[in-house]
Amino acid sequence: MENLKHFLLALCAATAAGFVSIIFVFRWVLYFKEGLAWDGGLAEFNWHPVLAVTGFIFLQGIAIIVYRLPWTWQCSKLMMKFIHAGLNLLAFVFAVIAMVAVFDFHNGANIPNMYSLHSWLGLTAVILYGLQLVLGVGMYLIPVTPVSWRAAFMPLHVYSGLLLFTSVIAVALMGITEKLIFGLKDPKYKDSPPEATFVNVLGVLLVLFGGLILWIATRTSWKRPSDQILHSLHTNGGGEDNSKVASALSQLPDGSDAYGAGDARKRSNKFDEQVN
Ligand code: HEM
Ligand code: HEM
Repeated sequence: MENLKHFLLALCAATAAGFVSIIFVFRWVLYFKEGLAWDGGLAEFNWHPVLAVTGFIFLQGIAIIVYRLPWTWQCSKLMMKFIHAGLNLLAFVFAVIAMVAVFDFHNGANIPNMYSLHSWLGLTAVILYGLQLVLGVGMYLIPVTPVSWRAAFMPLHVYSGLLLFTSVIAVALMGITEKLIFGLKDPKYKDSPPEATFVNVLGVLLVLFGGLILWIATRTSWKRPSDQILHSLHTNGGGEDNSKVASALSQLPDGSDAYGAGDARKRSNKFDEQVN
């Protein structure tokens, strides 16, 4: 991998920001707020930020970069797809429970539903995330989907995945600000009590985590070797620089040299299996 040190630095910074965010959200609800319970009250509401941060943000972020970890490049693409899909599924489950917690709390306390921009964008993100999951499974896990469809859909899959991830962080920042404004009475938010400063830092950490994940996920040179090949094929119009592609192919995890075999069909099968 090019710039392995930079990759490791970005990865460590991202996981550190993620872990510290999780610690912050737990400390917020356990120390400053009412704790955690499933009783229809404020302690039930508190599951909402906890599950949003740990599941919908942290797990989704890790799911996005899982293909980039160099020590997984020896694993088959299929196994990595299951890990990527599994982590995304887990993130979705956390998000759904986070929704149940806040709706249940609102209904119990006679608070209207879906009045805020936070709730509109938040629920939209959860629904679209569910759709992304279903389409991801349909396209990339069910073996009958034609390879040409898989390749054509991939740029959209990556774009919508990154857009959703970014939106979820923006939604969390709105939620955090709302909660501080609603929850802090004496002293008020504008008087900067310790809770407000602490939770503002949580917001900064979430932005940092998001920024680092997006950085890792958008470096072409940090892709799995087989995926770099596809990228060079696309950017070279499918064959301008075959020597580069051939040398990249020879580095595929199983160590075989598809070009050396001189068999075009075998070569194209290799692409199908490695890339999609
Ligand atoms: C309410 C989604 C994160 C604070 C809501 C509602 C939704 C939602 C759909 C409406 C519930 C209803 O109308 O009954 C999300 C999503 C999040 C997220 C998808 C993922 C990041 C957070 C975070 C906080 C938060 C981190 C911080 C405490 C609130 C508050 C409400 C609320 C205070 C009640 C006021 C309102 O409806 O806007 N959230 N939320 N949310 N959420 Fe979030
Ligand atoms: C790649 C997001 C679900 C299969 C990606 C990437 C993102 C992403 C951002 C680009 C990663 C990179 O360039 O390294 C998501 C989100 C999902 C989801 C947010 C859930 C809501 C799925 C599912 C599958 C899947 C269920 C089924 C296996 C793939 C594949 C790639 C990919 C094959 C290509 C990885 C590569 O570059 O080799 N996904 N994904 N995704 N995703 Fe998903």
